[in-house]
Amino acid sequence: MKNRLFMLLCLLLFAGYSMANEKVIRISTDRVSLIYKVAPNGRLYQVYLGKQLTQDSDIAYLPEMGEAYLTHGMEDYYEPAIRMLHNDGNPSLLLKYVSHETKQTAPDVRETVIRLRDENYPVEVNLFFIAYAKQDIIKTYTEIKHAEKKPVTLYNYASSLLHLSADHYFLTEFSGDWAHEVNMTELPLAYGKKLLDTKLGSRADMFCSPFFLLSLDRKAEENNGDVLFGTISWTGNFRFTFEVDHLNKLRILSGINPYASEYALQPNEVFRTPEFVFTYSAEGKGLATRNFHRWARNYDLKDGNKPRMTLLNNWEATYFDFDENKLVTIMDEAVKLGVDMFLLDDGWFGNKYPRSSDRQGLGDWDVTKDKLPNGVGKLVEEAQKRNIKFGIWIEPEMVNPKSELYEKHKDWVIHLSNRDEYYFRNQLVLDLSNPKVQDYVFSIVDNLMTRYPGIAYFKWDCNSPITNIYSPYLKDKQSHLYVDHVRGVYNVFKRVNEKYPNLPMMLCSGGGGRSDFEALKYFTEFWPSDNTDPVERIFIQWGFSHFFPVKSMAAHVTSWGKQPLKFRTDVAMMCKLGFDIRVNEMTEEEQTFCHDAVKNFKRLNDVVLEGDMYRLVSPYEKEHAAMAYVNEKKDHAVLFAFDIYPRYAEQNQPVKMQGLDPQANYKVEEINLMPGTSSRLRGNGQVYSGEFLMTVGLPVFSSRSTTSHILEITRR
Ligand code: GLA
Repeated sequence: MKNRLFMLLCLLLFAGYSMANEKVIRISTDRVSLIYKVAPNGRLYQVYLGKQLTQDSDIAYLPEMGEAYLTHGMEDYYEPAIRMLHNDGNPSLLLKYVSHETKQTAPDVRETVIRLRDENYPVEVNLFFIAYAKQDIIKTYTEIKHAEKKPVTLYNYASSLLHLSADHYFLTEFSGDWAHEVNMTELPLAYGKKLLDTKLGSRADMFCSPFFLLSLDRKAEENNGDVLFGTISWTGNFRFTFEVDHLNKLRILSGINPYASEYALQPNEVFRTPEFVFTYSAEGKGLATRNFHRWARNYDLKDGNKPRMTLLNNWEATYFDFDENKLVTIMDEAVKLGVDMFLLDDGWFGNKYPRSSDRQGLGDWDVTKDKLPNGVGKLVEEAQKRNIKFGIWIEPEMVNPKSELYEKHKDWVIHLSNRDEYYFRNQLVLDLSNPKVQDYVFSIVDNLMTRYPGIAYFKWDCNSPITNIYSPYLKDKQSHLYVDHVRGVYNVFKRVNEKYPNLPMMLCSGGGGRSDFEALKYFTEFWPSDNTDPVERIFIQWGFSHFFPVKSMAAHVTSWGKQPLKFRTDVAMMCKLGFDIRVNEMTEEEQTFCHDAVKNFKRLNDVVLEGDMYRLVSPYEKEHAAMAYVNEKKDHAVLFAFDIYPRYAEQNQPVKMQGLDPQANYKVEEINLMPGTSSRLRGNGQVYSGEFLMTVGLPVFSSRSTTSHILEITRR
């Protein structure tokens, strides 16, 4: 008995001793905790990631899940976060905890840095975590530095490594192609690795988007279950590695794709990785989405809390076939619509090689005299006369071989001088690792803005991945190209933003080939897809909506698709509304309808652009779709409902709203009707309680294909 008591005492003492010696580092938001512990061996381990743990005393019992930033060459057998070669040829790294500090950088934002060091080599790795309390978002990145005599070679340099532990893992990826972006596929993960990556360089997301969602134990649901949403803020090659080990634990490595990108790091140079941003929700995908939207509007997206302009674009309306008169007529059409801006697209530049098709002229940013004899200035003036803004398209990072720029500056072009050139959309990528090229790209915007200060908006395109991969500038450092090129692109974005902080810009890349939160720090919106067929757009907008607030997603009403104009418009009104269509070719009723739709959209700005979004019925599950938006005060909401291609005489259940105040009463009114028609929806114009709308719902679906309804829901 005495012996047993003694043993127990020793155990308790030992537990107390090890607890006191184990430093705990908590990264917390209002509902999420990420916890690290320094083990007695001095190394840093993740011990928890999930729903907020509130009792400090429990933390001592959490088991180690895996090393925080796995290194190569030690006892772990799986993918490392970092691998480097030292000056003496030694390829290993062992990181020990040195210190950490946390500071409040804004009322709801706390930044933690954990410093790690190798005891045998002068290598430091700092892990940064920025926790946004209210939005439950954690942003993390890593800085790597050394003081060896000569450069060390970095082979792997992840932004983040996260460990999860569950019986089952379900990964949703977002993949596709041009005009077919962000198709969602959910797949179970079993032992081994699943990679999501890109090697396209500049139009990097054309096939695969830099975000994923991961559901624990069961397939992801909208309002239940544990899910992690993650995205890498990097406009170039990225890689996510999902690796399930022999203990069924999952490691998620996120960062720049190390493919062909080993980096020679100079002594004392800091290698800063891109940011990996994630949220964890114990209430399904809907909450994770709203976390991301709120965070993006408040902390990431350019002008995230400012209004957006509606516009009329001329790309699908004219393609390259326009002149000054035609454009001025289209400006009149913009006035008819009541939109804020006219946006001039591709085809306005080049003289030796006029940009009359995508085969030539890219790189020569002087206005085509034959087409626009009075220049851009005249167009700005005409827009101003009509009291609308003027925006312009550029694709400044690219060049057609048939251009004066290519003739003058082949040394600025990424290409292999001893091989035939391979073109994507007849063009090549300029070498943005070269500071001179950065200056040149900056000057395209700067010259336009200096000459025509009335320009109020840019659409910045990027239509080609990097082909013929060789930088004339980097010479013997070719493996830096993918990284330094993207850094060069950011240098230009930064300069443009510093000089023109109030200039809204659209990020475009042959559709949605660029959609990441680093680029969006400099852009007010992006173009999710060249595919503007509304049925396709329902799916594309649905996919992107998981991460991006709708005010960042441009959606235009066009003639692509044969659906009724109302259906096309209703789909575009779920995002940042624009038009790209000949208004004069519409019937009078259609013109009135579009004009009223613009008015409705502006009236609904506080809901659609600033509100919370709820995905109610998924087009992936039914031949219907429904989305709702609710403003912060819960006194104004809007419900969008679409019948895509339903079966004959299909029976549908009412759609239940979300996000309302159950105690409040709301008036429900169908809006956006074609002139001369009235609502056929049962219950239109009635007052319901929030409880009823959320529990019983409204009968908004029919079995008529490509029909749509928008219901405005207003507190009484
Ligand atoms: C890309 C864009 C389009 C349009 C064309 C112009 O494809 O995605 O919206 O601007 O370029 O060439």
